[in-house]
Amino acid sequence: MQERKPFYITTPIYYPSGKFHIGTAYTTVAADALKRYKLLQGYDAYMLTGLDEHGQKIETVAREKGKEPQQYVDEMADEAKRLWKTMDINYDDFIRTTEERHMKVVQEIFDYFMDTGDIYKGEYEGLYCTPCETFFTETQLVDGKCPDCGREVKPMKEEAYFFNMKKYAKKLLEYYDSHPDFVKPDYRKTEMINNFIKPGLEDLCVSRTSFDWGVKVRKDPKHVVYVWLDALTNYITALGYKSDDDHLFQKYWPASVQIVGKDIARFHLIYWPIFLMALGLEPPKTIMVHNWIMMKDGKMSKSKGNVVYPELLINRYGLDATKYFLLKALPVSQDGLFTPEEFVERFNIDLCNDLGNLVNRTVGMINKYYGGNVPKYNSDKNEQDKDLEKVTINQKNEFVNKMNELQFSNALGEIWGIISRCNKYIDETTPWILAKEENKEKLDSVMYHLVQSIRFVAVLLQPFMPETAESIFEQLGLTKSEYKTWNSLDEYHMELGNVTVIEVGKPLFVRLDKDAEIEYIKDEMKK
Ligand code: MSP
Repeated sequence: MQERKPFYITTPIYYPSGKFHIGTAYTTVAADALKRYKLLQGYDAYMLTGLDEHGQKIETVAREKGKEPQQYVDEMADEAKRLWKTMDINYDDFIRTTEERHMKVVQEIFDYFMDTGDIYKGEYEGLYCTPCETFFTETQLVDGKCPDCGREVKPMKEEAYFFNMKKYAKKLLEYYDSHPDFVKPDYRKTEMINNFIKPGLEDLCVSRTSFDWGVKVRKDPKHVVYVWLDALTNYITALGYKSDDDHLFQKYWPASVQIVGKDIARFHLIYWPIFLMALGLEPPKTIMVHNWIMMKDGKMSKSKGNVVYPELLINRYGLDATKYFLLKALPVSQDGLFTPEEFVERFNIDLCNDLGNLVNRTVGMINKYYGGNVPKYNSDKNEQDKDLEKVTINQKNEFVNKMNELQFSNALGEIWGIISRCNKYIDETTPWILAKEENKEKLDSVMYHLVQSIRFVAVLLQPFMPETAESIFEQLGLTKSEYKTWNSLDEYHMELGNVTVIEVGKPLFVRLDKDAEIEYIKDEMKK
């Protein structure tokens, strides 16, 4: 048997500073869809997620709740795992930065950098944003406040260790140049070059003495390792790098795709590859930076009362509809918007009208005209048959292109391209008239083509909406696994054998009362 190719996907590790909302969930939902897609294509896909549990921010939140930091992060880790279970996230490992397997290696990496001279001791004076755990220079501030979160910064001075970023700036630019797939989409790379590298990369302060909830520097334990150096290394410590058993590291590194939100692009596109170069390791093949899901009044925040938690949508509208909305909502080049109106509209139009009705009508017609048995192929009989085949295959190829570029929203758009063409095909071929005219040959052809094109839709939907895809296969009687494989898409006219649709179609999605549901979501958001 042919060896399956490794494909390593990571999400950022999340700060457990509060409940995850639909925006934070986005990165993980996208990584999960990518993993399922790669599994479908036969890769040995491996996905990592986890929690970033150190740092002053977490310590403060824990204390505010009257808890020891460790107790607090333990509870949050359980909560995070519960959410990912509810969302059916198919991860392989969940790393926590407070785990021994991680901390030990962070200390070793720090020691190593001290030995090579990449880390040196100095003094840091600057403006510090506590929630972001980041020092800024005066010029980096926006209106005198933190450029990332907009909160107050305060002057701080401390003895600290620094990482020699300057030394690697040229090497990083060369790396960008020679690895065009390293950053997707491409414009994020230009941003890094123009905003941070060209103006001159500063050495990075990589230790703190103002608090101690972190990994201690082994040779100088009054210092703790800066959370970002601690956190970024999770992607390799989870694979057993520098441990007694590093077979996962040998197998999966360099990562195939690391998915991160735009706010943490700088850490991943600049510091992370530099740390790896300094360790003599290869940077990941691709880092994909996505935009944000925004609300009409800006960022989601508890104080604005505009937060949407995934459970609200999942419990009422189902997991697949929730995932569909999230993945569809974020275009490549700008932020996406969540509004209750838009959510209900997408549900009713894309899911109920376009997809649900197509499957339902097809099952209904095959029952009505054929007692449920899908007719066999005997060459194209309608003028439109060839076009439906062509569009189905083209959209599938375009889907592959979009997935290669990690453009999930556009990839879904390609699937909906097939769905729209199928609906138009029904209107053009008017099966009810063919039935009345007893034009059996043409009617056979219409039903057969619909089943094949919907089969393409279901196969392509599997990574995004697994339950919906399964229901389509079941309703069409395509229950054998051979109909569901990636390779089954090589041939439009795959031999289906004797296939029988279910007797009574089940609606995939039930149409929502628009006004009532908009009201419902708005009310729930206030809670
Ligand atoms: N702990 C760091 C990551 C360290 S990785 C070595 C962190 N954590 S986070 O919890 O703040 O963010 C987790 C992910 O959620 C990030 O990719 C972030 O961009 C993403 N999002 C947070 N809010 C978001 C939206 N509103 N929309 C889309 N993604 C969002 O950063």
